[in-house]
Amino acid sequence: MFRFFPKLLQRCKGKKKPPAKEDDMGGICCHSKEAAAKKEEPAIHFSNVQEEEQIVHSCIIGIALYPLNSPNRFLLSFERGDKLIIEDESDPDWYMARHMNEERRGFAPKSYLTLDRYAGEENWFFGDTNRADAERLLLQPENEPGAFLVRHSHAQGSYALSVKDIDHNSNEVLIRHYKIRTLDRGGFFISPRKPFATLKDLVTYYFNSDGLCRRLEQPCFRSRPAILGPLPNSRDEYEVPFESLQFVRTLGKGNFGEVFYGFWNGTVEVAIKRLVSNGVQTDEFRREVAVMKAICHPKIVRLYAICTEKEPFCIVMEYMCNGNLQHYLKTDLGKKLRLPSLVNISAQIADGMTYLESNNMIHRDLAARNILVGDGGIVKLADFGLARIMDEAVYVASGGKLPIKWTAPEAYTTMEFTIKSDVWSFGIVLYEIFTHGGTPYSGLKNAQVSQLITKQDYRMPKPSDPDCTDPVYEIMLMCWKKDPKDRPTFEFLYHFFTDFPVTSEASYREAD
Ligand SMILES: Nc1ncnc2c1ncn2[C@@H]1O[C@H](COP(=O)(O)OP(=O)(O)O)[C@@H](O)[C@H]1O
Ligand SMILES: [Mg+2]
Repeated sequence: MFRFFPKLLQRCKGKKKPPAKEDDMGGICCHSKEAAAKKEEPAIHFSNVQEEEQIVHSCIIGIALYPLNSPNRFLLSFERGDKLIIEDESDPDWYMARHMNEERRGFAPKSYLTLDRYAGEENWFFGDTNRADAERLLLQPENEPGAFLVRHSHAQGSYALSVKDIDHNSNEVLIRHYKIRTLDRGGFFISPRKPFATLKDLVTYYFNSDGLCRRLEQPCFRSRPAILGPLPNSRDEYEVPFESLQFVRTLGKGNFGEVFYGFWNGTVEVAIKRLVSNGVQTDEFRREVAVMKAICHPKIVRLYAICTEKEPFCIVMEYMCNGNLQHYLKTDLGKKLRLPSLVNISAQIADGMTYLESNNMIHRDLAARNILVGDGGIVKLADFGLARIMDEAVYVASGGKLPIKWTAPEAYTTMEFTIKSDVWSFGIVLYEIFTHGGTPYSGLKNAQVSQLITKQDYRMPKPSDPDCTDPVYEIMLMCWKKDPKDRPTFEFLYHFFTDFPVTSEASYREAD
């Protein structure tokens, strides 16, 4: 990876580039070639490789993983493989970047670039993708058995190879992982008897020869990420005019309004939650906005903008094309999801919840209907209407409707909510996941459920679905421990599901 030396970056940022021009909207214009030609200072052109190398080593360089045809002058257009000099990386979603061979500057979505030279050059290299995301990506239907990727492993300086395979006994699809170890004097190996000078040599060898579960066939499919909404220059203030929103169709109805699919500024695909106003709901709306503004995590739905100058108030957020998880699990696609995919969904939810846990937040409405499914099997937490940023470990609610079947007993008896009451709800979400959208406590009314749980320590029996294996049911029971202190942390749950053995094998395989 190219590293960042502030002094040298100054050099890159300094003289050779014309100053950014403020446009009428306070955004930064990209300079046309003609404009650049008129300037006295020359545009950067790399006359020889040595100079390019020198500049490359002193700046952060991003390499484009996907082409982008910019719809407006604020965004940079580029081709796959183009190199961009990163000038500002402080925004969570956007780089301010400059095209390396041409005098063009603008915003570039972070998800379109990699800072890892290998990932830019080799389409099988997925850089910092973790094990759970590697599984999610390879499990997508676009990938046939034999699809693979190489990624950084959490052990410093080492790599892992993940391959899509079919289990000979069960005939089920699963993902195998191999550790790629490095040699002190340089070089890589899976089997110590077969070292290679480069990762590319290693991949080429297992492409043409046996030794792994199967031969490598094609690099994992990369689905082009959505371009996130508002650019940084419009994000300082979340407020946008109601007229900039276009409502296309209803996506769902919730507790305090309707959610629409639509567009922001005519181009950016968004979901818009429109509030039906009354006093209590306006409070909830404000809380939801406050929490969402404070959150930035890949497994939590992003807030783009709000609309509160006049009613109806709206929350504008990232659109998740496959709707809520409860509905998704019941679709034809969802019904086909087997153990590895269900485990992966659980790991992603636990990942988002670990973020809340470590930032002293609670969700209070964790349920499959409030978890959304996007492209490429990604799932994200949503509906922060009841969420709270906590000053203390316990939040005492003042009343209101509660989803009893998802709520921990101490929360509806004493109104005390903690992250451990979210863990209880997570156990119910696991029930929903591993029964493909089954209804918890089916056939029972809320009052009966609360009675059974508080008076008789009743817990749902193990679902008969073959995907709900013993270890999965045991973890549900741990989430439903009577004493909140006995329930696991989300961090534990995240590791439990990322390291979950979907076969009886070790989590990493050895080469033959
Ligand atoms: N960002 C989104 N993308 C796609 N669908 C969404 C989005 N947000 C909400 N929905 C749909 O609308 C439903 C209600 O949204 P939710 O945030 O739970 O509202 P409420 O707070 O009113 O319960 C969800 O279950 C889902 O089907
Ligand atoms: Mg909801």
